[in-house]
Amino acid sequence: MKTSTKKSIFFCTACGYESNGYIGKCPACQVWDSFKAAPKISKPTKDAKHQLFVTPESELLKLSEIKEDEITRYDTKSPEFNRVLGDGLVPGSLTLVGGEPGIGKSTLLLQITKNFSEQNLNVLYVSAEESSRQLKLRANRLNINPHSNHISVFAENNLNQIIDIIETQEPNLVIVDSIQAVYIPDLDSVPGSPSQIRQCCGNLMRLAKSTNIPIIIVGHINKDGDIAGPKILEHMVDTVLQFENTRDSQIRFLRTIKNRFGSTDEVGIFRMESYGLIDLTNPSEIFLAERSDGMLFAVREGKRTLLLEMQALALNSDYNNPRRVANGIEISRLHQILAIVEKKLGVSLSKSDIYLNVVGGMAIKDTAADLSIALAVYNSIVGQSNDKDIVALGELGLSGEIRSVIDIEARVKECIKLGYKTIIIPEANHKKLKEDYKDAKIIAAKNISDLVKLR
Ligand code: TYD
Ligand code: MG
Repeated sequence: MKTSTKKSIFFCTACGYESNGYIGKCPACQVWDSFKAAPKISKPTKDAKHQLFVTPESELLKLSEIKEDEITRYDTKSPEFNRVLGDGLVPGSLTLVGGEPGIGKSTLLLQITKNFSEQNLNVLYVSAEESSRQLKLRANRLNINPHSNHISVFAENNLNQIIDIIETQEPNLVIVDSIQAVYIPDLDSVPGSPSQIRQCCGNLMRLAKSTNIPIIIVGHINKDGDIAGPKILEHMVDTVLQFENTRDSQIRFLRTIKNRFGSTDEVGIFRMESYGLIDLTNPSEIFLAERSDGMLFAVREGKRTLLLEMQALALNSDYNNPRRVANGIEISRLHQILAIVEKKLGVSLSKSDIYLNVVGGMAIKDTAADLSIALAVYNSIVGQSNDKDIVALGELGLSGEIRSVIDIEARVKECIKLGYKTIIIPEANHKKLKEDYKDAKIIAAKNISDLVKLR
């Protein structure tokens, strides 16, 4: 590619394709409007691209000759982190932990560092963004033994030096915080540019594979989820984990976006405290710890089930257009459910302000929550309290029909496990239940109007 040092270089934020000028549609990945200017890029080295996918194992092997060693994984001592990795960290794997700045990536990885050190495993923490003194302050906050000899901190940006240290020290785990802050001096492009990030990631991948040391890299995503971010690295690494915020400022989800060693349907749940992140291995218990008077429902997050509470409040309105406030579900969904309640349950909502809240700060997309919303609103309108011991599950169709939801058995089991044994489920799901749940009372429901008549 011909480049000039005077001109800005543009690159596609979706795939990293670089060009001398702005292009409306990326010729490589066909995405529109994805080009942004990089700070300054001059001539890239000769065959940077061709070096990327070379594997250290250049022997030709017959399938029958390949050793089938069982993967022994490192126990990170964080049940939630182990879960998203697919039951521990695989030696020689390259894992990317992405997320917005400030979400807790460095905190999490320093805690993992601590957990390794406490098993007498050596960790090299490459701090390319923060000084070693800043890192020490954070380590104190996380209660890391200040005398530990198992943790080495290398505050350096030059990847060649970082690789030298890894090769001489041979730690059991390497953290690179962050991939945007390291660079290869032989490349002319600035740190953080797509070609630097890709090349650095490629070199770390080769190093992980040749030394069998697991390497975890941090990648920042900005609000738009782009700019030389982890997106362009996803295909290069073994595992991609994404740290996400929830409505609750303390609760964090860590989702598996890609995993060569496990399922991508996993989600780890944490809570940020003043002394670090704590694993929420039984999140329903935490969410229901301060049980209020709402209607219970169960949502699926990846392979997990969370039992949560839906509160509704209906008040006489002073407005011509009564207020509708939804915290934790989309407002359009509330409007649709209110229309069904009004039409099918024969109550008037036109003179009522309605507030809806998913207790515990979760944001819900799972349609299995529909029935709990409708029942909580109806109960508030007619002035009766919710049945505190009943869980209601089902998606609502426009005729008030209760439609089936996925993973019903997992939801029912979670309810029973937490001691809630009366569960309303869609009739279509009920017919297909594999177990008969003798200890529980499972009510099959066909239409929301039947449920109200039942009372
Ligand atoms: P950090 O791990 O620095 O985020 P990232 O590496 O993703 O940019 O986390 C920063 C936030 O976490 C910061 O706002 C302070 C907060 N925090 C706590 O609440 N408790 C803690 O124990 C620590 C270390 C940080
Ligand atoms: Mg950080």
